[in-house]
Amino acid sequence: MDREIDLALTPPGESDRAGGARLAGALNLDPDTARRLHARLDPKVYIETFGCQMNEHDTEIMYGILGRMGYAQASGPEEADVLLFNTCAIRESAVEHALGRIGQLKPLKYKNPDLVVGVCGCLPQVEGQTERLLRMFPHLDLIFGTHNIHQLPELIERARHERETVVDVWESMGPDGIPERLPVQRAGTLKAWVTIIYGCNKRCSYCIVPRTRGRERSRLPEDIVAEVQELGRQGYKEITLLGQNVNAYGKDLGYTDFGDLLTLLDQSSPGIERIRFTTNHPKDFTPKMVEAIARAPKVCEWLHLPVQSGSDAVLRRMRRSYNRRQYLDLVRRIREWMPDAVITTDIIVGFPGETEDDFRQTLSLVEEVGYDAAFMFMFSPRAGTEAATLPDQLPQEVKKERLQRLIELQNRVSLAKNQAMVGRVEEILVEGLDKGKADRVYGRTRGNKLVTAPGSADLIGRLVPVRITEAHIWTLEGSVVEAAVATG
Ligand code: SAH
Ligand code: SF4
Ligand code: F3S
Repeated sequence: MDREIDLALTPPGESDRAGGARLAGALNLDPDTARRLHARLDPKVYIETFGCQMNEHDTEIMYGILGRMGYAQASGPEEADVLLFNTCAIRESAVEHALGRIGQLKPLKYKNPDLVVGVCGCLPQVEGQTERLLRMFPHLDLIFGTHNIHQLPELIERARHERETVVDVWESMGPDGIPERLPVQRAGTLKAWVTIIYGCNKRCSYCIVPRTRGRERSRLPEDIVAEVQELGRQGYKEITLLGQNVNAYGKDLGYTDFGDLLTLLDQSSPGIERIRFTTNHPKDFTPKMVEAIARAPKVCEWLHLPVQSGSDAVLRRMRRSYNRRQYLDLVRRIREWMPDAVITTDIIVGFPGETEDDFRQTLSLVEEVGYDAAFMFMFSPRAGTEAATLPDQLPQEVKKERLQRLIELQNRVSLAKNQAMVGRVEEILVEGLDKGKADRVYGRTRGNKLVTAPGSADLIGRLVPVRITEAHIWTLEGSVVEAAVATG
């Protein structure tokens, strides 16, 4: 076979080692040169993501940018020519997880000195952490932050050519422009994330995010509408609007707010069937927003409403700027407008100075609200935040024991909520086959509950009515209501 044809047939996705070996034979090259040549002809990138949805969406954008540079997605870190770690700094456990993985994959760099290894995301944005990364991992080629992922082509080029680690993190936390129309390689074909606001202006005393993501910056409504309309044209059915505090949307623009945005998107998004949003701050959740959600048919009745604690004393020290009564008023208002709304939350146990009585108030709030689900965390002191320096830091055993009790209670509450749904018909957007089984599908209700049901692949991408037949703590089972599907 002709050599040029051989090159043209370099199958995409092949590892540099395998492809290089083939090229070495065909072109009579030494193995190292052949491997490098293969990496240039068919470069691949792999990104490991550790954080929240915002980080995951940043990863999709980085894949998009690298895709335009000719990089395909590698199937694993061993296949990659560029390997990035998109880190999270919210709790020490998230940091340790990322550091462990960066260390574990260090040998890949020794095996292949041309591999570009980079760390990005929230961790390098935290004071002192870039230095820590450099100390621990001198093999890193690149460290960058959350605000400059659009400069990736230039950063990678520099990392390839400079001998020192290229470092580009956000030094001043001033407002930054929002780069629009970045390419995105989305992980799914039915559901898509759409960022509406970057950063956070709140100053919750335990939280590192304002330092990692900077001040609030809202995207223009017309840019959001354009992105959502394009998603509708591409066949996406569901979008999730993202922000650390979506309820603050538009404050910096001065002429619109989150309620307006929901109404606008509901009316201007052909093809999109469901609109979700996360995450909310109870303080900024206005009655107008509750009404907008209830009135907009596409906007789903799922509200993630982080409460953090049920004790007013703790809420004050957390600087959450609402108290228990105000929070419960908001829940009541939501239920008045949407009696079946699914409400989920985030809770921190073991905040400095949290007494047994404070903690019991959290437990009683969980029962009073009746959360469908909750993310529950032990307080993790973050260097540089106010809460890390508060007196009466609690021992790990106390935090653990409280977390355990809280999880037990929440599991009971979740199960009871789910059991109450048995017999009801819920609309499910079918997303795929359940664990690869050919005769069982899964999807989510409007309230974001996971349901599995007998069904085949032809249901994927459709909204189908499903009668709930069985309830578990985290999932539901059901059966498709056939007549409605046939006529629907
Ligand atoms: N902007 C979101 C929160 C993002 S962080 C909001 O305000 O809801 C997600 C969750 O992590 C928070 O709601 C909180 O429950 C938890 N969290 C944040 N900082 C933490 C810390 N230092 N220790 C433990 N949990 C923390
Ligand atoms: Fe952190 Fe509070 Fe901002 Fe949420 S609202 S990101 S918890 S500072
Ligand atoms: Fe983590 Fe950054 Fe998100 S700190 S939770 S990845 S905003």
